[in-house]
Amino acid sequence: MKLFTALLTLAMAQAQDPVARGAVIFRAQCSVPYCHGPDGEEGRAPKLIGHSHREQRVRGITAEGVMAKGMPGFGKTLMADELDAVVQFVMSLSGRTQAEQAKPATTNARGRALFFDAARFNGCGACHEADGWGIPVGPDLARAKPASLEQLRAVPVTRLVTVTRNAEASFPGIAVSSAPLIRVYDLSSPIPVLRSFQAGEVRLQAGARWDHAAATAAYTDTELAEIREFLIRLPR
Ligand code: HEC
Repeated sequence: MKLFTALLTLAMAQAQDPVARGAVIFRAQCSVPYCHGPDGEEGRAPKLIGHSHREQRVRGITAEGVMAKGMPGFGKTLMADELDAVVQFVMSLSGRTQAEQAKPATTNARGRALFFDAARFNGCGACHEADGWGIPVGPDLARAKPASLEQLRAVPVTRLVTVTRNAEASFPGIAVSSAPLIRVYDLSSPIPVLRSFQAGEVRLQAGARWDHAAATAAYTDTELAEIREFLIRLPR
């Protein structure tokens, strides 16, 4: 049942208002580090803060994508109410300024920057939330308070699943929901992506071949120490 702790998180998010819910979906689907920033700031894709699009256009682009620019459409991967929530979130960004959006400085800015470093593969922020940012593939680290560097390097993983789809090779994943769609973060892609399947389309088995050390190997000890400082000082 541990497997579906993440499901609870999703269910809780669903109880919130559409903008908050849209923000959660947006971070999971639209703000993988090389696309839009987690709060709508600029990534490799344009920033969405302060945009002046009408709702109808935002809905169209979100559903259909922008082929020429490499943005996928989400009309088929999101359910109607989820698409709606994302549109509400993106609309809530219009009329805001980058300054309003900026987070207050935390005590360890360097650790924070390393954690959310979008330029490196396996940056912690590609899989973890902390300080209200990031993508929730793994747990929010505000509560982790790692006692040592070793605890950051050797993380026990308990929620892994092996996902097998008929003809495809199986891949390691983190299960997010089981109904109405089966959703898993695909850990075999360089930056985990949330994939959705129809019930019966895939088989999930507990456990997978995946090592968290591959993620922390992207950082030196000195850098990890900064990250640890950043994490310990976060308010719970
Ligand atoms: C590719 C995705 C990915 C990346 C990148 C990643 N993690 Fe994780 N991390 C996970 C997952 C998934 C779990 C939880 C696995 C489970 O519960 O089975 C986890 C668990 C953890 C935990 C244990 C938390 C707890 O409460 O048990 C810590 C600490 C942690 N990660 C730190 C880091 C740090 C620091 C970085 C960056 C150096 C990082 N992770 C990068 C996916 C990732």
